[in-house]
Order: sequence, then C-alpha cells, then structure tokens
Amino acid sequence: MAIANKIASHISKSSWIRKMFEEGERLRQEFGVDNVHDFTLGNPDVEPPEAFRRELMTLAGQPLPGMHRYMNNAGYAETRTAVAEKLARESGLGVTADQVIMTCGAGGALNVVLKTILNPGEEVIILAPYFVEYKFYIDNHGGVPVEVWTDRTTFQLDIEAIEKALTPKTRAILICSPNNPTGVIYPEENLRQLGELVKKVHQRNGHLIYVISDEPYARIAYDGKQVPNIFPLVESSIIVTSHSKDLALPGERIGYLAANPRMDTVQQFMEGAIFSNRVLGFVNAPALMQRLVAKLQNSSVDIASYQAKRDLLCSSLSAMGFEMVMPDGAFYLFPKSPLTDDVDFVKLAQKHHILLVPGAGFGAPGFFRIAYCVDQGVIERSLPAWSSLAKEAGLRG
Ligand SMILES: Cc1ncc(COP(=O)(O)O)c(C=O)c1O
Repeated sequence: MAIANKIASHISKSSWIRKMFEEGERLRQEFGVDNVHDFTLGNPDVEPPEAFRRELMTLAGQPLPGMHRYMNNAGYAETRTAVAEKLARESGLGVTADQVIMTCGAGGALNVVLKTILNPGEEVIILAPYFVEYKFYIDNHGGVPVEVWTDRTTFQLDIEAIEKALTPKTRAILICSPNNPTGVIYPEENLRQLGELVKKVHQRNGHLIYVISDEPYARIAYDGKQVPNIFPLVESSIIVTSHSKDLALPGERIGYLAANPRMDTVQQFMEGAIFSNRVLGFVNAPALMQRLVAKLQNSSVDIASYQAKRDLLCSSLSAMGFEMVMPDGAFYLFPKSPLTDDVDFVKLAQKHHILLVPGAGFGAPGFFRIAYCVDQGVIERSLPAWSSLAKEAGLRG
C-alpha cells in the first residue's frame, strides 16, 4: 500500500461525510441543485460581518511595513491582548496575552494542545456524541481516546460516568459546548462539578487532568443564553476555539488557545504549546487574519438567522413526529433515528433527496445529524420531502 496502514484504516472509518458529499454531487447532477436537500456539512452559509470587510479594505489600502513576515510563534501581541481582554472580561480573571496563542483554527489548537500534554498511551476522555476528528487528533499524538456517553436523553454531562472512566493514565477530558452535533450548552453548575472532580483527583494524588474546552460555537447561542466561561469553574482548563463559525471564516484558518491563568503550571504549558505550534509546522497563525480578528473580538455573524432556521426545523420536524433535544446553540440538530439502524434511515433519506450524517459518525448510533447552516430556502423547499420521509419511516409525516 502506498500510504500507511493506519491512515488507510482511518480514512475508511471517517468516510461518512465524504460519502454523503459524493452522493450529494451525484444527486445534484441528476436532479438539479434545488431538488437536493443537503444538510451534511458544518460550513456556514452566511458571510462574515460587515466590520470584517471594512477592516480588510483598510488593511489592504494602508499596508503595514513587514505585515507578511514571520512573527513570534504565539502570534501578534496586539491580537493576543485583544483576545485576553475579552477572556478576562468573561471570566473575571486576570487573563493576559501570555496565556493566549493564535492558531490555525480550533483544529490546529486542539493538535497543539494534545501534542503538548500527551505522553504515549495516555488517555483522553471524549464525550459521545462527539466531533469525529477528536479521535484522529488524539491518535496523532500517541494518545488513546476513551469514549464516555453524555446523558442519552439530554446530552448533558454525566459526571458519574466520567468519574468511573478515570484511570491513572487519564490526561485530559475533552468537552465541546455549544456541542457539535447536539447543540446543547453545558450549564455552569455541571462545569463546576467537572472542575471539582478533577480538582479532587489532583488533591488526592497530584494527578493533573486537563479539561480541554473546544468552543468554536461559543458566540452562537440562542434565546439569550450565555455560554459559561470555563476558567472560573475548572482550574486546569484550556480553551480552544476559532473564528470559523462565529465570524464565518473557516477557510481562513484562524483561532486560538488560551490557558487558565489559575493553573500552577500555566507558564510551562504555554512554553510547550508555543513550541508545538512551531514544530507541527503551523509556525504561526495567518498574519493578515490575526490583524483583522484583533478588531472583531466582540463581533459575530447574524445569530438571529441561525435561530430562525433552528426554530423552523425543530417545529416542522417535531410536528412530523421526529424526536429531538432543542439545541441551545451551534447549528446542528441531532434527532433520534425513527429506524433502529441510523445508517438505514440515512439511506432512506437519500431516496427522498435529503442528505444527512448518521449518528454512528459521531460515536452515537440511533441518531442522525442535520447541519442547518444552509439557506432558509433550502430548509423551506425540503419540508415536503421531510414529510414523505417521516411517513415512510413510520412517523406522522
Ligand atoms: C466541535 C468542533 N471542533 C473543532 C472544529 C474545527 O474547526 P476549525 O478548525 O475550522 O476551527 C469543528 C469544525 O467543524 C467543530 O465542529
């Protein structure tokens, strides 16, 4: 084989979204774009905020000397300060630029963190349903993913189950709120309990367990809900995030990681993470984007339009008989599959020209994911197809 066995095996295990994409292309060619309802990809359909374009034009019109050169591997001080000020405001803690590294998206940040903290064979707890790339990122750095389910009806943290899964090899717990794929936000009280759990283990035997909070959807929250800042709640926490979703810039690869200033070992962690950012080949986050996002730390895309899409889909699908947890944020729905086998259900949906991802792709068979970061017209046009799909799957329709 021309490629490593492990990569070939990972490709075959992660091919759901790719398979759906290929099937979508085939259906689009055969039936036309407007007759295929594609809910597979978490690629924002909205444009970045107007302020982004304005700043981009200003920067292009008045270029700064040396603005395309290498910089400190952690990123520009100006950008890290803007991020730190925002985190300090949200957490009430003295976060400084020294605790922030600009990264190539949340994906880049996760790889930097995992490379920095993992010794071979150490375990990272991931919470099902989870973002499937987590497993591959953990494997990139010699770690072992350990799957623990969230509560199967609410998708909220199951602290007891997490506690049971801890071993002397546990190095980190990876959480995501607002969650991909379920859209739930973990409330402050549950995050505090998680913080108390890892603190108890640390006090008992000096075993440091990091809580990595992956939060690229933190600014996409509905009904006035706030996503609690993790720093005051979990001492050993690291935030990883990006502007892929909140500023609709996924192609620009810009995000950051930030370490809790209350961690005793924060300085050593940051030294390690800056080194990892360099030797993973990222070197630094894209220079131009760093300049721009420094000015956009309090901006976001139009959240109301995502909320309107959530409301339309949730009310329409519930009326047809689909069961789901109402998401508090992000732009995904994760309903129960009406057929026992979620893969069979997704195949049936294809017959109705609706493209979905089975829950099995998120470590959660029995469910399916709808990404509703699509034009409102796509949702409206898809409703008759959803209705006939529901009927064929034994629901009201
Ligand atoms: C939960 C979660 N984490 C991380 C990422 C990676 O995002 P990016 O690397 O574009 O910031 C995504 C992208 O969809 C995601 O859904």
